[in-house]
Amino acid sequence: MGQIHMTQVLVTGAGGYIGTALVPLLLDAGYAVRAVDRFYFGRHLLPEHDRLEVVVEDSRKLTPAHFQGVDAVIDLAAISNDPSGELFQEATYQINRDSRVRAAHLAREAGVRRYMLPSSCSIYGFQEGGVIADESSPTNPLTTYARANEMAERGVLPLADEKFCVVVLRQATVYGLSPRMRFDLAINGMTFGAWKTGKLPLMRDGTQWRPMVHVRDTARAQMFMLEADPAKVNGEIFNVGSAGNVYQIGPLGELVAGYVPRDVEIEWYGDPDVRSYRVAFDKIEALGYRTEKTAADGVAEVCKALEAGTLDKTIRTITLDWYRELARWHRIIREVEMYGGIVEI
Ligand SMILES: NC(=O)c1ccc[n+]([C@@H]2O[C@H](COP(=O)([O-])OP(=O)(O)OC[C@H]3O[C@@H](n4cnc5c(N)ncnc54)[C@H](O)[C@@H]3O)[C@@H](O)[C@H]2O)c1
Repeated sequence: MGQIHMTQVLVTGAGGYIGTALVPLLLDAGYAVRAVDRFYFGRHLLPEHDRLEVVVEDSRKLTPAHFQGVDAVIDLAAISNDPSGELFQEATYQINRDSRVRAAHLAREAGVRRYMLPSSCSIYGFQEGGVIADESSPTNPLTTYARANEMAERGVLPLADEKFCVVVLRQATVYGLSPRMRFDLAINGMTFGAWKTGKLPLMRDGTQWRPMVHVRDTARAQMFMLEADPAKVNGEIFNVGSAGNVYQIGPLGELVAGYVPRDVEIEWYGDPDVRSYRVAFDKIEALGYRTEKTAADGVAEVCKALEAGTLDKTIRTITLDWYRELARWHRIIREVEMYGGIVEI
């Protein structure tokens, strides 16, 4: 990386799948990081570091003080998938749309120079077979999650001006190993099923197109955009991924099966997926950004961690199940808690 101009980076959602992969890379590159998160997935997943400041806060409650002294914001905090977005619709609009637009306003008012919105290629929704969507293609968001992301994009982009650089990154579906692991993402879920049971779960009907990106590659794209020339990126949307990592789900399942070290059968599930999108990455590549990891790299590192016993598919790795579980325990605890305690008070 060239000379660092940004020094203090505020990362919301820093305790998430992408955040816990991104923060160590930022620290290694010399940045100071203010990590803001409610830490739904635990507070133990970020490294101890003298340039890391951890702020436990809800993104809906951020104040101007959180943005003081910050050079750039990477606004990852969100309800992060379609089923969770449908279950918690109102919260998804509050967190994924309203809080991010508000964070961008607060950042601009505090003199922050750059704001990055990590959005999603899922806002392309369904595109006819031959269409390869680029950043100027019509979008077709099919879920609450995708609609909230698109509204957030529309809310933050107009704030761009010569003092405030706004960049939207539409990330492909992410895969690979991260401290806050997610097995509810396509490649990771396939890998776990195949490794554990010899049955690789594939969502019907397998013809749907989906772009993929490794978690450290998307983290690197965010770092790349911290230093990219504002004249080339300000007010712009970039798809994040690579042409070589766009698949139909059926062939992708066979590819993943081939890298799992045991005999694997395909097990189909669900109704045919209505989401199907092929995506072009020429715009980000024209700036010089390139992904480094293949799908095989992700499968191999996940299998290695499973084999070593350092990784397992717990309920926390399935975002929807974990949010449901937290809501269930919240109800139980509210019923039995008295005087600030349960058995001991
Ligand atoms: N993983 C993917 O495949 C993918 C693809 C495209 C876009 N994205 C986007 O990237 C971002 C991060 O995704 P992820 O995979 O790391 O998800 P994640 O669920 O692992 O992380 C989200 C983080 O945000 C935090 N959070 C949620 N609501 C909060 C609130 N109100 N206040 C404070 N913190 C809150 C959670 O505790 C969690 O640590 C999301 O915006 C997601 O939509 C992810």
